Amino acid sequence: VRELVCPKDMAGMKVVVSAGATCEPMDPVRYITNHSTGKMGCAVARACMLRGADVTLLCARDAGLRVPFVRNVPFVTAKDLFEAVKENVMDADALVMAAAVADYRPAVVAEDKVKKADGALSLALERTDDILAWAGANKPENLYLCGFSMETRDLIENSTAKLHKKNLDLIVANNLKVPGAGFGVDTNVVTLISADGAESLPLQSKDAVAMRIADEIVKHRKAKQ
Ligand code: CTP
Ligand code: CA
Repeated sequence: VRELVCPKDMAGMKVVVSAGATCEPMDPVRYITNHSTGKMGCAVARACMLRGADVTLLCARDAGLRVPFVRNVPFVTAKDLFEAVKENVMDADALVMAAAVADYRPAVVAEDKVKKADGALSLALERTDDILAWAGANKPENLYLCGFSMETRDLIENSTAKLHKKNLDLIVANNLKVPGAGFGVDTNVVTLISADGAESLPLQSKDAVAMRIADEIVKHRKAKQ
């Protein structure tokens, strides 16, 4: 209810958010994915929508993710997501990449089901494109770029390196091993890292974290005006 009466301080802004896990097929039956459920990205899409932004949510198709009152664009693979980002980001005010994108995909997708045989199976993997790094390298002047970073050690150091390497305005870093953070739960424990430094937030709902991220986007726009 508090969110419903929040100020419409993102009116006139276009925000693109990605949420959930990519799926990379190896044959018509199997695929490689990860544990992301898309809750954090959906919370960001909802928060920005409630604050009046025009929101496009690039959402993991197989997770059935949907947020009402936003434009939902489903993706399956990292390649699909890359295409969707390219199509939607150039006139956006902000891109929030909460999706958990595969770093590798099967190098060959078998047309028919791979049948089992005796002995081990080796699967060759190839790198996917780093979508956020592409956005950072091709960043239109007005685009606010927010990434997420999941680490199990050296959280601040590794996440700050990603902030710089990908030319981001903000990285939302979380340590998977901290209780209350990570996959599937409704809460998160994050550190916001930007050029201003690192701010560690206490355990709170993903909706509250999403509102903080929206605050940062609005703060950045006000500073530029
Ligand atoms: N990301 C992306 N494209 C990829 C991989 C990651 O856009 N192919 C984005 C994620 O959506 C996230 C950020 O980059 O916002 C950081 O993802 P993360 O997996 O934490 O970092 P990586 O740069 O992939 O490095 P590593 O997995 O080795 O820690
Ligand atoms: Ca990765």
